[in-house]
Amino acid sequence: MPPALAPDALRLSLRRHGRVPLYHQIATGLRERIESGDLPAGTRLPAERELARAVGVNRSTVVAAYDELEAEGLVDCRPGRGTVVSAGRAPGPGPDWARRLGSAADRWELPLLAEIQDALAAPHLIPLAHGEPGPDLWPRDALDRLLRGASLARVPMGYPEPHGYPELREALARRLRGRGITAGPESIVLVNGSQQGFHLITQTLLSPGDAVAVERPSYLGTLRLFDGSGIRTVPVPVGPEGIDLDHLAASLQPGVRALFTIPTCHSPTGTTLPEPGRQRLVSLAARRRLLVVEDDPFTDLVLDGPAPRSLKAFDTAGSVLTLGTLSKTAAPALRVGWIVAPAPVADVLARTRLQFDLGGGILSEWVAARWLASGGYDEHLAWLRQPLARRRAAMLEALGRWLGGMATWVGPAGGYHVWCRLEVRASSLAVFRAAVRQGVAVVPGAVYRFEPGAPHVRLSFCRAAPGEIAEGVRRLRRAVDRLASRSAVAARR
Ligand SMILES: Cc1ncc(COP(=O)(O)O)c(C=O)c1O
Repeated sequence: MPPALAPDALRLSLRRHGRVPLYHQIATGLRERIESGDLPAGTRLPAERELARAVGVNRSTVVAAYDELEAEGLVDCRPGRGTVVSAGRAPGPGPDWARRLGSAADRWELPLLAEIQDALAAPHLIPLAHGEPGPDLWPRDALDRLLRGASLARVPMGYPEPHGYPELREALARRLRGRGITAGPESIVLVNGSQQGFHLITQTLLSPGDAVAVERPSYLGTLRLFDGSGIRTVPVPVGPEGIDLDHLAASLQPGVRALFTIPTCHSPTGTTLPEPGRQRLVSLAARRRLLVVEDDPFTDLVLDGPAPRSLKAFDTAGSVLTLGTLSKTAAPALRVGWIVAPAPVADVLARTRLQFDLGGGILSEWVAARWLASGGYDEHLAWLRQPLARRRAAMLEALGRWLGGMATWVGPAGGYHVWCRLEVRASSLAVFRAAVRQGVAVVPGAVYRFEPGAPHVRLSFCRAAPGEIAEGVRRLRRAVDRLASRSAVAARR
């Protein structure tokens, strides 16, 4: 009988804070190596206890992983012989879909996201989970008027130039001046939404193995992007006034190359970093030679007084890249976003981007340019802030009424979201599922990698009408009551 492999030989690396169960990660790692022929038939896998000790999990986790592989016929588990890679499971013809899809699902946490997307799409649930405006807030009529009788005679129909449609970049440059940002059109790169901008920046300016500081919790789109790109994240807590700058300063160890931050109406917490903090953050970044990526989708939706100036307005060293988008203020259908960067950086980003997809859709960029230049976009914003302010008021009132004393939250200066910690002994996923059973969709904090075991949820007020918001929060209260009585019963047993 051959000796068992040493645990180190398996080179397993586990993500402890993701949603993919550890046993499944172990099974996936082993499956890949068995199917690639790396662990041939007859190989004895490490003893359960030894592997568990080496990777820092309970023995039952390794047992579950081996069981999964045995159920697939990849290994035989025999008393006295240990776990041995099976013979004779020749791969069938065609791509190995099970393995490929399994590892994509793990990397992007697809099962968790699919569960939440199903809740977003369910018409019977009150929508407090969306991150986009509802149909009643879409600028259909405004764009209809704008386009009526418009002529495409002067619109170029070829592939775009690297930075994107010049007239939109000029209109954005004029607009950004109002936010304290001096940037010409050559410093702006148009992208298909800011999410594409994050991919572009990550692929162009970071390398696998680099670390980036991110708020904890943080926007789920960048967290998954970093996982998929081999970038380590260094979490920085968020307080009632945005990112904790003392903690940030202490976190900037060598190897941390960038900070990704949402300083205005942060998602998911709704918090806003005041201007003195912005000044401090940008000075710190300059001193520590840190790249700052400012995700700024909500500035135009600050409802209380003027929005604080962008981080870029304080940036004399060229540390900050600022990303904006029309997805939150107008409609994601436009897929218009932009990156503002020092001109030489913008040039490289723009040329790299052409390697991805040959450029953005000029027709969308043309519509956006006309809308901005006509003043129609500002009119739409002035209108949109009114229903958003009513919905935010409805949300805060309902929270006070139904969850006062049973939850904590901070009223946001604008944007879409309120972050709520519920006083119940349950995980955020358990709260999400209980809420769905009661007829309301919320986003569990686990999605944002925030203390998955703690009952935090993100509640959005951008989609539902005020009456629905009140009813949605009432249903959330019912869900909390159910969970609380269940845990009381469990405690008595
Ligand atoms: C905080 C935040 N930033 C950026 C984005 C990306 O938006 P888009 O790619 O549509 O511009 C989103 C979308 O949900 C978001 O919530």
